[in-house]
Amino acid sequence: MIRLSSFFILMFLSAEYLYAHNEQSKDLNQQAYQILQTRCYRCHGGSAKQAGLDVLSRANLLEERGETGSRFAWVVPGSVETSTLLDTLEPGPDSYMPKQGSPESKAMTDEEKQLLVNWVKAGAEFPVVENRSFISEVQILKAMRNHLLSAKADDRTNIRFYTLTHLYNNPSVSELDLRLYRAAFAKTLNSLTKRREVFIPEPLPETGESVYPVNLEELYWNRDDIWAEILSHYPYALKYDYVKDEELQQLWKDVSQFSGADVPYLRADWFIVTATQPPLYHLLLDIPQTLSELEHQLQLDITQNFLHGDLARSGYAKSGVSQQNRLLERHSTPATPYFWISYDFLPRRARGDLTRFPLGPVFPENPFNNQAFDHDGGEIIWSLPNGMQGYMLVDGKGNRINEGPVDVVFDRSAVLGTPSIINGISCIYCHRDGMISEFRDEIRHADAVGGKPREHVLKIYPTHEKMQSLTKGDREIFMRALEKVTGPYLLVGPDENKNIKDFPEPIGKVAEMYFRDLTPQQMALELGIQETEILQAKIEANRELLRYGLGTMIQDPPGTLKRDKWETREGTSLMQDIASELRMGVPYVSRQPIYE
Ligand code: HEC
Ligand code: HEC
Repeated sequence: MIRLSSFFILMFLSAEYLYAHNEQSKDLNQQAYQILQTRCYRCHGGSAKQAGLDVLSRANLLEERGETGSRFAWVVPGSVETSTLLDTLEPGPDSYMPKQGSPESKAMTDEEKQLLVNWVKAGAEFPVVENRSFISEVQILKAMRNHLLSAKADDRTNIRFYTLTHLYNNPSVSELDLRLYRAAFAKTLNSLTKRREVFIPEPLPETGESVYPVNLEELYWNRDDIWAEILSHYPYALKYDYVKDEELQQLWKDVSQFSGADVPYLRADWFIVTATQPPLYHLLLDIPQTLSELEHQLQLDITQNFLHGDLARSGYAKSGVSQQNRLLERHSTPATPYFWISYDFLPRRARGDLTRFPLGPVFPENPFNNQAFDHDGGEIIWSLPNGMQGYMLVDGKGNRINEGPVDVVFDRSAVLGTPSIINGISCIYCHRDGMISEFRDEIRHADAVGGKPREHVLKIYPTHEKMQSLTKGDREIFMRALEKVTGPYLLVGPDENKNIKDFPEPIGKVAEMYFRDLTPQQMALELGIQETEILQAKIEANRELLRYGLGTMIQDPPGTLKRDKWETREGTSLMQDIASELRMGVPYVSRQPIYE
């Protein structure tokens, strides 16, 4: 199974807080509400009200308690001193609340605690409640069937659907989060296709903008049995051909039959975090196994460009990513306005000193082999036909790899967890605004080589100003495309006049939300059950389910479940097993993945 490490989760969290800071004045109420929901609600709300505290009831928070003479309330609007709830929150890990050792206590930051203080100071208002009515599986299948019926018969077998319905149905997912999910979905599709125009997913009517049809052909995904390969990784596929509900059964049969797919739809959030990582990332974007094949695809000949001095380089020691020397090189080809490749070096490489060896890499016809460096790997970015970016990681021989080795590309956030860089999602996250121009060449002005080699250095290592203007132009191409792709979801309503840079990077944000531990409410919704209490009652009544380790779901306060565990598969996933035990659907067992 494809998995994202905790490093990301932490990395993404910090970005989220920066964002929180920017938005503080406007969305304070919304944010405070969300903090109470994600950090306290499991123990202080719903069926579990520890200490009689119900954090999502403003009446409960403001209620006066205690004996006459020592009356108090959890929250006194405007008064930080007398709001006893705030007494439980101290900066750092030794805070009394959230209860020590709980996932909430590990996840909650000092910024969030401060935000609750500011919220009380500002009057402790709750946000205007959004009222979304529950959308059932029957409703979304109806919408899918209608869409298939209205499509041309020839197109039907290329039509698939992506759903955000389990998130739409979850009242703890805010309107803004839903917009970020949609933006992340659009960004994912557009980052994984060679299609020329941007593709703006349009929701099916009467699904609360939570179901999106996609035509595989339009995204160039009607090749290599791509859908079956995606399903081979998908842990949530259910079939409804043997369920009691006859309407559901019939709709399922129709949708499956018209589309010709075993499973014609899947969850968009799963897809966003999975398809942006290898192996699916490489398969969907058709990234070849080697650099030379990629050059061929992009009508690029790096060696010829080097010999003719038709490229632009910047070399320097130590960078934000690498502790070693690093060389960045830019090309332009008839097939892509920009192609950037970095040459990265292992520590203490004999020919890793770029000032002395600026004219690598070594190859037979290179007239400067005496001044040629020897590198260990590289990172590549190029502009896709629609203006979004493709990414590839290669080793020193130009073979594609899935993750950047620790020694070569060092991540600043290494202190937070694993330092490896995963192709696709890591690049998308850091290169959120496209090219990064935080570098300055040190080779052009170094005097370590003379004569002909020096002339070639002057030719291919342009001035700082020239390099800056190239990166700036490239960044603009990307930002224009990004705005076209995500703007329709982000720049709406109250945020109409904002800049997309004011929002968190959506794919990273979705990954962070996706890998949070599941609450009983989320589990219920992911199973298509509207009321958490109904799931809990079913667990109580079905001893069989306790075998699956669901006992913690009916404890007071209820426990949480790791996403990993929910998805773990031995033939079927835990989610599929539970759905099957509850007779909510039949697990779909896919073939094994083929593509690595
Ligand atoms: C993992 C469960 C859990 C989480 C999460 C949690 N609490 Fe508690 N909380 C408790 C329990 C249990 C008590 C009862 C006292 C005790 O056992 O420490 C309690 C008691 C309290 C009290 C009453 C303290 C008193 O002196 O009577 C307040 C106020 C409180 N929590 C606030 C919060 C806030 C605010 C959050 C979120 C930021 C939070 N709690 C998150 C479990 C939790
Ligand atoms: C932790 C953040 C981070 C991640 C993850 C990351 N990069 Fe970068 N990248 C940078 C920074 C910062 C620069 C600017 C140059 C420097 O400091 O070395 C850069 C520069 C580059 C450049 C040179 C062009 C430019 O933007 O300046 C390429 C090519 C590149 N990265 C490719 C990749 C690829 C491919 C991936 C994913 C495998 C990736 N990067 C992941 C931070 C990152």
